[in-house]
Amino acid sequence: MEVRNRIEVMHGVNLDQLGRRDPDHYGSFTLTELEMGISEAAAELGLATRFFQSNHEGAFVEHLHGLNEMADGLILNPGAWTHYSYAIRDALELTQLPAVEVHLSNVDEREPFRRESVITDLCRARVAGRGRDGYREALGVLAEELASAV
Ligand code: DQA
Repeated sequence: MEVRNRIEVMHGVNLDQLGRRDPDHYGSFTLTELEMGISEAAAELGLATRFFQSNHEGAFVEHLHGLNEMADGLILNPGAWTHYSYAIRDALELTQLPAVEVHLSNVDEREPFRRESVITDLCRARVAGRGRDGYREALGVLAEELASAV
């Protein structure tokens, strides 16, 4: 039986600066610490993770272009691009992978521009305001989806 357990976890602009950003919104952990936690949570669910971060929109888009044969599911937190990047939206649509949108902070209760997401309708779920636990939830959604798709 083919195992479909490869999850790509993509972080966008400024998320490499976790640990320096406002701890009230983002916590005080670094991106590396966040990624370690995600990969442990994934392993508990039988999922394998690969990580990508970029501050360059084109690099983020090109990474999405190359994903099809490389991953079975996708977790993405595009940072501020979430709110306006139709380029990332179009590239996400091309992947045809089940995707979950995650935000560390509660974007719905911050500035109005953060309430807008141009990717939500392409995603299986959107998790916001749950800090690092949000990624665990996202992994759970994908684990279920991949198990039921076998
Ligand atoms: C974020 C929320 C965005 O509005 C912000 O620009 C980020 C991070 C989050 O994880 O809460 O960079 O996506």
